[in-house]
Amino acid sequence: MAPETDLMAKIVSLCKRRGFVFQSSEIYGGLNSCYDYGPLGVELKRNVKDAWWNSMVTGREDVVGLDSAILQHPAVWKASGHLDTFSDPLIDCKQCKSRFRADHLQEGSYGEVRDGDDGRPRCPKCDGELTDARQFNLMFKTFMGPVEDAANTVYMRPETAQGIFTNFVNVANSARMKPPFGIAQMGKSFRNEITPGNFVFRTREFEQMEMEYFVPPDESEKWFEYWVEERFEWYVRNGVRRSKLRQRPHAQDELAHYSTGCIDVEYEFPFGWSELEGIANRTDFDLKQHTEHSGKDLSFFDEAEKLRYVPHVIEPAAGCDRTAMTFLVDAYEEEERHNEKTGKTETRTVLRFHPRIAPITVAVFPLVKKEGMPDHARAIVQELAGAGLRTFYDQKGAIGRRYRRQDEVGTPYCLTVDGQTLEDGTVTLRDRDSMEQQRVAGAEVAGFVQAKMSDWRRE
Ligand code: GAP
Repeated sequence: MAPETDLMAKIVSLCKRRGFVFQSSEIYGGLNSCYDYGPLGVELKRNVKDAWWNSMVTGREDVVGLDSAILQHPAVWKASGHLDTFSDPLIDCKQCKSRFRADHLQEGSYGEVRDGDDGRPRCPKCDGELTDARQFNLMFKTFMGPVEDAANTVYMRPETAQGIFTNFVNVANSARMKPPFGIAQMGKSFRNEITPGNFVFRTREFEQMEMEYFVPPDESEKWFEYWVEERFEWYVRNGVRRSKLRQRPHAQDELAHYSTGCIDVEYEFPFGWSELEGIANRTDFDLKQHTEHSGKDLSFFDEAEKLRYVPHVIEPAAGCDRTAMTFLVDAYEEEERHNEKTGKTETRTVLRFHPRIAPITVAVFPLVKKEGMPDHARAIVQELAGAGLRTFYDQKGAIGRRYRRQDEVGTPYCLTVDGQTLEDGTVTLRDRDSMEQQRVAGAEVAGFVQAKMSDWRRE
């Protein structure tokens, strides 16, 4: 196996074995490109969303939240352009029936493409003849009510953004917001992707974390630059190595016709540099489109300036699943260590998550299942949980094995109740990264862990 495939295979296997991510409908043979998040995966994703919401909404005066419906009036998708243009060019191989995106075929994403004698590319898998490209709309359709006809067709939203635009006036008025201000939303989106793949990187059902920031037109460039920087640094603040991240400005021919700029935050995955998030200057396109199609005025009247204008929009649009996968890939390390007891070199698998992102913050162990240690350890679990820390209790197996199991899922701190705890109330706190152990007074452990969490730096 190539090293990059090997690394992804190891991560996919760890995800299944330890309960981060399972193939959806696995007992029925699986449903392609659909995944279920297990007990640890669901915590990881919650932490991703909390970190995003805290930095985008809770910690700011100028951004408020929204949770709009997945099913919206079909006119929304006409106005946004999704009905007419949200499509990918699809090509099939007549021989092996493989399916390709024409643009990805040209870019060489499926391997080298050979031109046939007639000058047309051949299938990169079997050298068979390819069909012409045809446009394939990516929106999932369903029907509202019992009658399955065109009049009742509705679409599963392909992005969360449009629910924000259609609520612009509702939110501005009810929350008394005035540009520059933002509306943030997280939630599921659906795209009938032609070629999903790379685990949860590109799927047909996924979660987005988007924010539309409405600004006076002459401030759009300033805010665009601000959000590019802010969003890039967010990944670094949450533990992703800076050297693995880059900003990639879109070339002129990649930009939507209405957009004046877009910069992607990219991560260097084992399969190459790929987009995590796009920060786009969408101008006044969306609000103007919805004004035109709905007949409702979506401009803003600035009472202080006695000025009416259609705000321009800066949009940082990220993917929750992609971010969770980035944190997993970036955190994964195999460390060779010499075991003094056995004299052998052992491999320690460790996920070096930022403590804020780790599914479990503190694992609590009684050294042995007797002498009241389990009760003592469970009381500490309750105390730590009361302080808002995510805990996990484990009393099974040798202590070294319990540490290793927590390293493998990225738990930054392990706390052991031992003989000395029963004498003086101190516990052993072990650090995942340095593997160092220190004794801490039981009563001070929550504060101690919280201080360590805020001081954490990736080595
Ligand atoms: N409102 C703008 C918008 O939706 P996008 O670049 O199409 O822009 C934003 O999507 C983010 O959503 C992407 O950067 C990616 O993180 C995530 N995303 C998009 N399609 C995805 C898919 N099929 N699977 C997983 N994540 C996806």
